[in-house]
Amino acid sequence: MAAQTGGNPFERRNLVLIGFMATGKSAVGRELAARLERRFVDTDALVEEAVGLRIPEIFRVHGEAYFREQESAVIAGLGRFPPGSLVVATGGGAVLRESNLEHLRRHGLIILLTASVRAVLRRTGRTAGRPLLPGGGNRRRAVLALLQEREHCYRRCDLAVDTTNKRPPRVAAEIIRHLYGTRPETGGKAE
Ligand code: S3P
Repeated sequence: MAAQTGGNPFERRNLVLIGFMATGKSAVGRELAARLERRFVDTDALVEEAVGLRIPEIFRVHGEAYFREQESAVIAGLGRFPPGSLVVATGGGAVLRESNLEHLRRHGLIILLTASVRAVLRRTGRTAGRPLLPGGGNRRRAVLALLQEREHCYRRCDLAVDTTNKRPPRVAAEIIRHLYGTRPETGGKAE
């Protein structure tokens, strides 16, 4: 059985995860979608599918402005799904455009995931594919600069959850507890 209960106002709202790179939006989103029996969509994956290239290639071949256009088109296209049917993971820069945030808000509750700078650096050190973050010693400076630049956008959320030192199942459980006031059915999965 899913964690949702009848009549909860969040049932008609998509759950939209925003936040900086490597705050766990995709992993937590997948976990939330499974627990709530909703469809999971990842805007980065939808852009990759639409363009036919991975994110770093899109940036390299077409540039960031083209990526942002594709990202906005994908976000506008989410309106075709029934309201409340989705858990959406967005790219870290998706909410920089006001019109994207408006689309996401129309049927969605905006949930910000945060993590310490240290956690972001640790997590991004393990994975490639983030064209806005250079390798080596400049990465910390880039993270700090981007965070400062974007802070005011991230602040415009309905709920914020810190993910530092937490695994995705625990973060998903916290979000569900915030929204539904219950412990979620874990379906046998440990937190
Ligand atoms: C970006 C974050 C990435 C991806 C692209 C740009 C950003 O997504 O959309 O590289 O501007 O912060 P993640 O937040 O999933 O890494």
